[in-house]
Amino acid sequence: MAANSGDELHQAVIRDHFRRPRNRGALDPPAASGHAHNPFCGDTVRIWALVDGGRIADVTFDGRGCSISQAAASMLTTLVKGKQVAAVEALRQAFADGLAPDGPALPKELGDLRSLAGVKRFPSRVRCAVLPFDALEEALRGD
Ligand code: FES
Repeated sequence: MAANSGDELHQAVIRDHFRRPRNRGALDPPAASGHAHNPFCGDTVRIWALVDGGRIADVTFDGRGCSISQAAASMLTTLVKGKQVAAVEALRQAFADGLAPDGPALPKELGDLRSLAGVKRFPSRVRCAVLPFDALEEALRGD
């Protein structure tokens, strides 16, 4: 089946984040880091977050893996930079809900992460898309 123009636009956004990742690299302490990996493929994402007064003052990532996981990390770090830590859980929930088989459309609050909406058609790739959220939440917990 041919991709429609919406799919093509989404593919272009994913490709752009994968080829020109935003916020790639490590942050020095006191930034905390969190790590997530997909046991099915071995791909990994690490996210560093510097929190100041309940706000994510800076956030970066590094990792190795498929275009979806790495593009999602670039999109997520772009999205949450400057946001309140307390806002992250609602964003994660909206993303997870929208990637469920009969889930709602991804809301505009998710920014470029909305380009991953098509992943819901490939349940094995949903894990790729949410991997960066796992790493970010670990970083924000500071474990
Ligand atoms: Fe490994 Fe996507 S195939 S995270």
